This record gives sequence, C-alpha cells and structure tokens, in this order.
Amino acid sequence: MQQTADVTEELARRVVTAAGRALDVDLTPEQALVQASPRDGVDFQANLAMSLGKQLGRPPREVAGLIAGALELGGIADPPEVAGPGFLNFVLCKEWLEARTGALLGDPRLGVPETAAPRRIALDYSSPNVAKEMHAGHLRSSVIGDALARLLRFAGHEVLPHNHLGDWGTPFGMLIEHLLDVSAGQRTIADLDAFYREARQKFDSDEAFATRARTRVVKLQSGDEDTLAVWQELVDESTRHFNAVYALLGISLTDNDIYGESFYNLYLAAVVDDLEKAGLTEVSDGAICVFPEGFRNREGDRLPLIVRKRDGGYGYAATDLATVRYWTSERGATDLLYVVGAPQAQHFAMVFAACRAAGWLTGHAEHIGFGTVLGADGKAMRTRAGETVKLADLLTEAVTQAAAVVAERSELDAAGQAEVARAVGIGAVKYADLSGDRERDYVFAWDRMLAKEGNTSVYLQYAHARTQSILQKAGGVPDGAGILLEAPAERALALKLLRLGEAVKAATSAYAPHKLCTYLYETAVAFSRFYDDCPVLKAPSPSLRASRLRLTTLTSNTLALGLSLLGIEAPDQL
Ligand code: ARG
Repeated sequence: MQQTADVTEELARRVVTAAGRALDVDLTPEQALVQASPRDGVDFQANLAMSLGKQLGRPPREVAGLIAGALELGGIADPPEVAGPGFLNFVLCKEWLEARTGALLGDPRLGVPETAAPRRIALDYSSPNVAKEMHAGHLRSSVIGDALARLLRFAGHEVLPHNHLGDWGTPFGMLIEHLLDVSAGQRTIADLDAFYREARQKFDSDEAFATRARTRVVKLQSGDEDTLAVWQELVDESTRHFNAVYALLGISLTDNDIYGESFYNLYLAAVVDDLEKAGLTEVSDGAICVFPEGFRNREGDRLPLIVRKRDGGYGYAATDLATVRYWTSERGATDLLYVVGAPQAQHFAMVFAACRAAGWLTGHAEHIGFGTVLGADGKAMRTRAGETVKLADLLTEAVTQAAAVVAERSELDAAGQAEVARAVGIGAVKYADLSGDRERDYVFAWDRMLAKEGNTSVYLQYAHARTQSILQKAGGVPDGAGILLEAPAERALALKLLRLGEAVKAATSAYAPHKLCTYLYETAVAFSRFYDDCPVLKAPSPSLRASRLRLTTLTSNTLALGLSLLGIEAPDQL
C-alpha cells in the first residue's frame, strides 16, 4: 500500500501536535493553516501563530518559536524558521522529497487517496428537455456533471447518474398533435427548436389545434396507448439528438441513465399522500401546496411548492419531490447532487427543505449551481439571429477551429490530425467550462479557449505530448525509482507532482473541478521550466538522466490522469 497522506496534511498534523505539546491547545490539522508557500526558497508555511497569539494573549513570534521548538518532523523538513509576524517557514528535506517522489512511480493512483467512507451518490446532470435543442446551460451541466462523476468514482464513491429529461407536461399535447400533423408517414425531426416553435405558433393561432392539443394532454395523462406511442417517438427522436451531442463531447451518460420527469409519474400520488399524512400540505387557490419553512417573497408572503395543481396535474416541483423520495427511499442514495443552473437555486432549496420535513431526506443534498455562458457582448450566448446556439453546431465549430491550430505544427497525417483536432477542440470547450469557478459566468471565446499558452487544455495537451515525445526518444525509462533533485526547477516540479492528491481531493470535496485545472496548469508550467533548465536526454550523468526521465514519466501520467478525471483526452502526439 502506498502512503497517501499528502504533504500539507502531514506537516499540519505535526504542527498541531507540537502546538498541543507546547501551548496546551487542541487544534485540528486545518487550524494549523499550513499552505504551500508562494515564495522562493520556502516550500510550506504554517500561519497559525498569529491567530493563536491573539487567542492566548502572547506575541505571535513567541508562539511560533514555541511551536517550532516542540516540532518533531521525522525527516520531512528542516526545523522551521520563524519569519515576519510569526510565520513558520518550512523547507522540505531533499532526501525525503526524493524518496516521496520516487514512491509515486509505483502507484497507479499517483498519490490520490481513496475515500475511507464510500457514499452512494445520485447525480442529476445534463437533463435537457425533449423536443428542444440542448442549450449552453445543458452543455455546462453535462460537462461539469460528467467531471464530477469521474472525480467521485475515482475517489471510490458509487455514483448513480440520472438524466432528468424534461419529457412531460402540458406542452406535449401540442407537440404530439404537431408531430401527427407533419408526419403522415416518415417521422423525423431535423431541428427540434424549429419543431417546437411551429407547434407553439399553431397552438397560439389555431383554435381548433389548441383544442386538439388540450384533449391530447388529457389522453397522455390517462395513459392512452396510441398517444403514448407518439410521445415515445418524440422522446426517442430527442434522445438521438442528445446522444449525438454526448458522443461528440465524450459524456458518459447512456439511455440507461434516463430518468425523465415521466418516470416519476408512478410515485406522484404517494408523494401527495405522504405529505398529507405528515400534515405538511395546505390547499391554496385550489392547489395542494407545501410551504417549506423559511421561504418568503419580498412582501413577506410564504412561498409555495405546488404539489398538485388545481386541475389535478403535477408540475416541475412535484416531480422533484418525487425524485428525492425515489433516490433516497428506493435506491438508498446517501447523497443527492443536482448540477443545474444557478437560477434554480431557490427551487432546490425549497425542495430539499420540504423533503427534510417529510422525512425523505436525512443525508446530504446539494444544488451544484453554475453561471451563464456569455457571448462577446456580455449577454447570454445567442446566435446572430438571436436564437439559442445549438450545441452540435458549436462542437463542430470547435473541432474545425482546433484543426487549424493543430495543422500549424503537427507532423501527423490527415487522419491523425483529424483525431487530434477532435480531442483538442472538444477538450478546449470542456476545459473553458471547467477551469473557472463554476458559479461564475464566463465568456465563450474561441481564441482564448484555443490559446496555446495560458490555462487552457491545449497548453496541457501540448505539455503532455512533449513528455511523451521525450520518453519516446529516450527509448525507455531505466527500472528503479531513484530521483535526484539537484536543480531548483527539478525540485519545484517534484513538489508539484507530490500534490496531485491534494488537488483532486479539493476538487472532489468542493465539487469544484477548477481546482484540479489550476493544479494541472501549474504542473505543466513547472514542467516547462524543468524542461528549459534541465537537459533530460543529454543529462550530465546516467543517474541524473534516469531521474529526469522518471520525473518526465510522472508528469506525463499526472497530466493524463488529471485530464481524464475532467473528461478530456490527452493524445500522445499533437
Ligand atoms: N430540464 C430542466 C431544465 O432544462 C433541468 C432539470 C434539472 N433537474 C431537476 N431534477 N430538476 O432546466
């Protein structure tokens, strides 16, 4: 078994032990405030002495000195220097760093720990609407959700993905009638949005059609077989569109993961029953509602979740109540995660509150919100005609643009270049989405996301391809795990390589893939410095050459593993 406690944590534990011994305080490792130092010549810094000094009424430098005196570092680092107002500055011991780095070579997980407490996590992501094109919000949900699924699985959790398709509700009356009208014979929908618009237009302008549509909704809800068959066609046709986008994007959702709104119909009556028995419902305006505690509008009125509408129908909120109930009660999920745009934050907060009150939800539930994709004008991204951008078009464009970038300096043949253009183009779109704090909006800009320098997937893919090319030229890496860290750039690279586990853990626990992106970027930068400063193939000695090849191997594997956890490919050659 590899030792996987990360360096930061290991230092932090020793620091709090020392603080306990010297000052009789009981701190958690987090309270040691250990972090990698941004300054040259110092590897880590512990910043607890300032707050501790205040708390104990003693000068922070004195507190720092006492902790330093009580520290047992076990060969990890030299005794720390007390600096500035009371920082403890650590420099890791060269031998320890070399041994630790070498140990990574035998570890397929590269030091990323597996969880000691696996959870069963129901993960709602992508969730587009039937008979509508997926839009940029569904792109974000798909990309972020898929990265989280990969991260959580890699950590050892069980992930139950579910694609909450919008496949039910009143619009299906007009959609079904329209499909019947247009498709005497062959039923294909080339353009989902156009189809939807036509149906809506007819509904608004043609009274007879509107009446047919309303009758059709009733038939659909009462389970009329012919109606359901047409509805199924709409669902299947839409799913084909969605699957095409998933295939292009490399999203791992399949038809087995579809749990559309319609899936929960079966459970809606029981939801109402349970809520009524629990005394949580009220009739308001003829509708059965739940008013979860603590939610009010600006006027101070309580906000309802509508469980059953006045006409007996069920809506979005009712379905989500049923969703929670299903995944916790029937599927035993311990955690519920919903990767859905920020505007639905209140909806989920209210659903969770109601479900806790109903006793369906005792574990963790979280809305993983995200911001909007903006166009160059700073407004939600649209086509020039003012329509929502079709994802399939966007992704095709990404591959075309990437092909131009790749062709500039590739030595690959045409087929190879096409394959790489796909990996680069799709990777760029995904990485642009993942590399910023997800709660923020971001501007969709081709030149920025396809830049060869900076925090982009292209830069990481080039760095990875470079490591592969070096390894290829070397004709093999000598057996053994000896690492020699002589040059500063070598040492800095090793320090980065040792921190993949921390980065993955941080990204996973905060559902924040950008933390992994930042780490990978810093690692690629550290590699680039190393490559500039330290000849690998022409290293001055065989042992140094072997060590540098090993560092190159670790960099290669780190970048490839990191990118794969984000759902991004790392071709060996660009
Ligand atoms: N279909 C919805 C939309 O496009 C997203 C559904 C999210 N999931 C959920 N359980 N409500 O906005």
